[in-house]
Amino acid sequence: MSEVLLKVEHLSAAYGGIRALDDISLQVREGEIVAVLGANGAGKSTLLKCLSSEKKPAAGSILFGGKPLPAKPYNVVESGMVIVPEGRQIFYKLSVYDNLQIGCSLRKDKAGIRQDLEMVYEMFPRLKERENQYGGLLSGGEQQMLAIARGLMARPRLMMLDEPSLGLAPIIVNQIMEVLKLLNQRGTTILLIEQNAHKALKLCDRAYLMNVGHIVMEGTGQELLANDQLMQAYLGA
Ligand SMILES: Nc1ncnc2c1ncn2[C@@H]1O[C@H](COP(=O)(O)OP(=O)(O)OP(=O)(O)O)[C@@H](O)[C@H]1O
Ligand SMILES: [Mg+2]
Repeated sequence: MSEVLLKVEHLSAAYGGIRALDDISLQVREGEIVAVLGANGAGKSTLLKCLSSEKKPAAGSILFGGKPLPAKPYNVVESGMVIVPEGRQIFYKLSVYDNLQIGCSLRKDKAGIRQDLEMVYEMFPRLKERENQYGGLLSGGEQQMLAIARGLMARPRLMMLDEPSLGLAPIIVNQIMEVLKLLNQRGTTILLIEQNAHKALKLCDRAYLMNVGHIVMEGTGQELLANDQLMQAYLGA
């Protein structure tokens, strides 16, 4: 079996007196697609904020590649983990090209950056066509593709996505799932946060189901898909 890339143990986090994560343990192996599902307020984004060092946990440990997670978000990116954030967070008044450059702003390997730019343009021809257009003028689906492409420009070992399908038409969601599958086949490990349980479970190797700060079930995508009652109870899916 491949090595454990991300290991989260007994993680808790709070906002003031409100506990958003309570004793979360999970792991992601090199090469996997792991999904984390949960309804609104389950703590999914808080988990990703802790994993990108945007938020300091109250307790627990996070190991990436066997080492403690760096304390500064940019060092986390340098270590090989990127987040494709909730709501995409595109810079509306910057061009598509400049948005992509932000993704690689910590890198100095110019040849590698050029290669990766070619790779994302090959993967997302629409972005190449719109290279000089403002990010804010892209459609929702195109903005999501741009957010993924920007993440790729950091050449991550682990890409973490926060609800990439939110607000998008089913056909676009399918395209995004296909992109994630392809990225994974090309070697990127993926942690996918979703409320779109069905599609995420069909794509992933393993999944965790969260409910108000806790993990209530884990298993293969197939195992969770087969558990209708649980999915109904926690996701209404
Ligand atoms: N900045 C904040 N200040 C105070 N409370 C917060 C903050 N961010 C999140 N919370 C609370 O923490 C809990 C978990 O929120 P979080 O955003 O992690 O959930 P989520 O699973 O990502 O939900 P959604 O599916 O709606 O994005 C919620 O109860 C939320 O109200
Ligand atoms: Mg969220």
